[in-house]
Amino acid sequence: MTTLTPVLSDNWDRPDSFTLAGYRDGGGYEALRTALTMEPDAIVDLVKTAGLRGRGGAGFPAGMKWSFLPKDNPKPRYLVVNADESEPGTCKDVPLMLANPHALIEGVAVAAYAIRSHQAFIYVRGEVLHVIRRLKQAVDEAREANLIGPDVLGSGFDLDVVVHSGAGAYICGEETALLDSLEGYRGQPRLKPPFPAVAGLYASPTVVNNVESIASVPPIVRNGAEWFTSMGTEKSAGFGFFSLSGHVERPGQYEAPLGVTLRELLDMAGGVRRGHSLKFWTPGGSSTPIFTDEHLDTPLDFESVGAAGSMLGTRALQIFDETTCVVHAVGRWIEFYAHESCGKCTPCREGNYWMVQVLDRLEHGEGTEADLEKLLDICDNLLGRAFCALGDGAASPVMSSIKHFRQEYIDHVTRGGCPFDHRKATAWG
Ligand code: NAI
Repeated sequence: MTTLTPVLSDNWDRPDSFTLAGYRDGGGYEALRTALTMEPDAIVDLVKTAGLRGRGGAGFPAGMKWSFLPKDNPKPRYLVVNADESEPGTCKDVPLMLANPHALIEGVAVAAYAIRSHQAFIYVRGEVLHVIRRLKQAVDEAREANLIGPDVLGSGFDLDVVVHSGAGAYICGEETALLDSLEGYRGQPRLKPPFPAVAGLYASPTVVNNVESIASVPPIVRNGAEWFTSMGTEKSAGFGFFSLSGHVERPGQYEAPLGVTLRELLDMAGGVRRGHSLKFWTPGGSSTPIFTDEHLDTPLDFESVGAAGSMLGTRALQIFDETTCVVHAVGRWIEFYAHESCGKCTPCREGNYWMVQVLDRLEHGEGTEADLEKLLDICDNLLGRAFCALGDGAASPVMSSIKHFRQEYIDHVTRGGCPFDHRKATAWG
């Protein structure tokens, strides 16, 4: 039986968890002290041995990404934290930064030291002003305590940390669009390669990592790689936040080892809302193919979720019960992607626009059975053909919902519109 493993959330019920004093009380910044006595490359090796994989969705090994920074490039190196969390359902970085901002700042200091960077940026989603204020306050506190700034803790290591506010564009969570935005341009994805590790911010070697990835580094330094690999699975080590939302009795953040199942998480969260049953769910936000009750026992690690036809993504588990119309739910997601498409590439700009039209007419009883093939054809032209991951993300819920709920789509045609009462049926009305 898997249980919770609170590490990054272990002090969240303290009223002063967000203050420097509250964080230090639980051993905060001790990992930084230790790290500063180590060779930077030894920290990179430690993170590699721990097998920490990126927590922003893609799961790329963090230590490997750090080691891709070219050794012979004389340009400055940058560390950029991607705090532009915007994927529908994804809601872990915001509470982490609110409740425990120093966990992130300590991670920034350790990671910057490890990659030999003296300038770090935390790029935060523009809408979350309260988080930006809290982070800035925490950065000021850390600077005053000499935990960042010149000559960190008398080690000779200098580090400047800037908290930068985005302006509310989903695309700026794509790492290269984020870098464009940080440089002052309109945020649109760049062609990769070159990857940011080689040519990122101001064309300099840059590590871009998610908030949770960076915040997970100090506990690894404090407790060692073996401690980390003792949790999770062989290829998906450690713990992570599983964010339960929607039709669940106790929605919230559940910090657990990778490989936990939805059934176990629902046990901890009081189950699907009383009197109802699970219909479908997302393992990792709206851009991951949906799962159904067949997948209650799929271990939530990168490999098992992939083998079952989806992706672990951001571990944003949106739970939908039998009162939800799948066409309506998918339509809302695609409206979001159409609105947030940056317009740079045709498959994404046009494909999302057309999918909204088709889903809308199905919902309103104006669709035909041929519309299902039209949707799949648009997905075929999106998947792997868009400039960045936004296109694949939008195709995923459409294709997977048709795979699992084809009859429900057909019912929209034969019954002349949606058979559900949305005002009662969906979580958002
Ligand atoms: P990706 O697989 O292209 O890259 C992942 C990371 O590894 C990047 O930092 C990339 O620079 C690095 N990388 C990959 N190959 C490399 C190489 N050969 N050399 C150096 N670095 C390399 O995935 P991407 O497009 O960055 O992210 C897609 C994921 O983002 C999706 O799977 C989705 O789950 C997630 N996502 C998360 C959101 C959020 O709000 N947290 C929003 C939307 C998507």
